[in-house]
Amino acid sequence: MIVSFSHEDPTSLSSDLLVLGIPLGAGAAAVAALDVPGAFGGALASLLKDEEFTGKLGVTIQVPSLGHVRARRLLIIGLGNGSPADLRHAIGTAAYQARQRGVKSLSVVLHGANPSAGVLRTLIESVFEGNYRFDKYKSEASRKAPLESLTFVGITENASAVELALASAAGQQLTRDLVNEPASEIYPASLARVAQDLSTENLTVTVFDEVQIREKGMGGIAAVGQASVRPPRLIHITWNPPGEVKGHIALVGKGVTFDSGGLSLKPNDGMLTMRCDMAGGASVIGVMKAIARLKPNIRVDGIVGAVENMPGGNAYKLGDILRFYNGKRAEIHNTDAEGRLVLADCLAYASELKPNAIVDLATLTGAAVVALGDWYTAMYTRSDELATTLSGHAAEAGDGVWRMPLADLYRDKLKAEFADLKNVGGRAGGSITAALFLSEFVNCDKWAHLDIAGPAFLESALLHYSPGGTGTMVRTLLRWIEAQGR
Ligand code: BES
Ligand code: ZN
Ligand code: ZN
Repeated sequence: MIVSFSHEDPTSLSSDLLVLGIPLGAGAAAVAALDVPGAFGGALASLLKDEEFTGKLGVTIQVPSLGHVRARRLLIIGLGNGSPADLRHAIGTAAYQARQRGVKSLSVVLHGANPSAGVLRTLIESVFEGNYRFDKYKSEASRKAPLESLTFVGITENASAVELALASAAGQQLTRDLVNEPASEIYPASLARVAQDLSTENLTVTVFDEVQIREKGMGGIAAVGQASVRPPRLIHITWNPPGEVKGHIALVGKGVTFDSGGLSLKPNDGMLTMRCDMAGGASVIGVMKAIARLKPNIRVDGIVGAVENMPGGNAYKLGDILRFYNGKRAEIHNTDAEGRLVLADCLAYASELKPNAIVDLATLTGAAVVALGDWYTAMYTRSDELATTLSGHAAEAGDGVWRMPLADLYRDKLKAEFADLKNVGGRAGGSITAALFLSEFVNCDKWAHLDIAGPAFLESALLHYSPGGTGTMVRTLLRWIEAQGR
């Protein structure tokens, strides 16, 4: 998509769809530029009145321009209070509607707003978010074309905001595609190949196969993956900046390419969307893709435990005792609590790299969905500083994050009879005990666990996201990394 800036008279701009964003209370003033003699000549003002348009966030009126202006159609959209968050959602909604009509060129006039570079970047990213559809398996006839060009009218140009947005949108889009692909296409080895294809001079990719995983003592990944005909992989991507190195972080992702539950088999409806269980891993890969383009001055290690959780004659069983990479052992009480077993090895491995901070992402628990619903990521960390920093970047990026208690009080729920711990802590506080389980494998003072089970995959459209993978937290993590690497 080509992004450009224009200071032309909007009535003479040629595009498929001209978006006119109007904040609360600005009605007539906002349409004045288009509603001139020779163009709509007063008709727009009466349209707003008839439709009782107030500028309420996300409310839209779409009309054909009938030759009154050069653009073919006009989309009037409410900008709410005009805050960055409202602008972001409004423009995402405009791009969402554009895709429904197969609009190829979009021009945007935002009344009374001249967004800062940071906000402009997020607006461009939101256009990509709203315009995204996973339609590659639909026939040509039932597909709608994506946007090819986006023109901002009357907004200060900023080339670096555009470049940042394009890089992060490309990363987020890869994450969404990977999540949406069926498990027949994305399995551990194919996910590893996607990562390997990102290799550049400064981005190296190492993949361990099932034999190496066992040899290294990664008993969690090995056990979860042992019943599948698609053997597991550990994917390790490293960004080593060409210049000065100002820091070092690690990102860890749960990459369960399909979670059937294993012998603790999920019922049909619970299993239906479980190709999304590699969303954490897909986010790590998406972030690494963007990093290769943004070239931050910090080292970033991205680690993905890629595995398919299946039942079978060779499946790991209830009562099995697994030994993880850091030497701890856990008793299996439910084979559907597999994500924590995969992450245990990955987190211990990441800790060995001695980064300043570790963030993991995982569609870890149904309990996080029950607690926070479809929009909010459950964030667990002992570091108030990391919590504040990540929350701040999330607010800017438009991701939903809510901090939850990493309550040591509940640690006893994970006590086991025959091993160091067991892999489930009961129904109550299920997302908290899952986080506590992970903490046993982290050796790094600054660590955050992001349970993205709710927002990673939408069963129906929400805000300006179409159903399926959302790429949640990709934009947030990129902002966090950039801030450290400047
Ligand atoms: N992948 C699931 C969690 C999940 C649920 C992700 C819904 C996305 C949407 C995870 O592996 C799982 O099955 N967790 C169990 C844990 C339980 C057995 C302790 C769960 O949440 O029910
Ligand atoms: Zn599971
Ligand atoms: Zn799972």
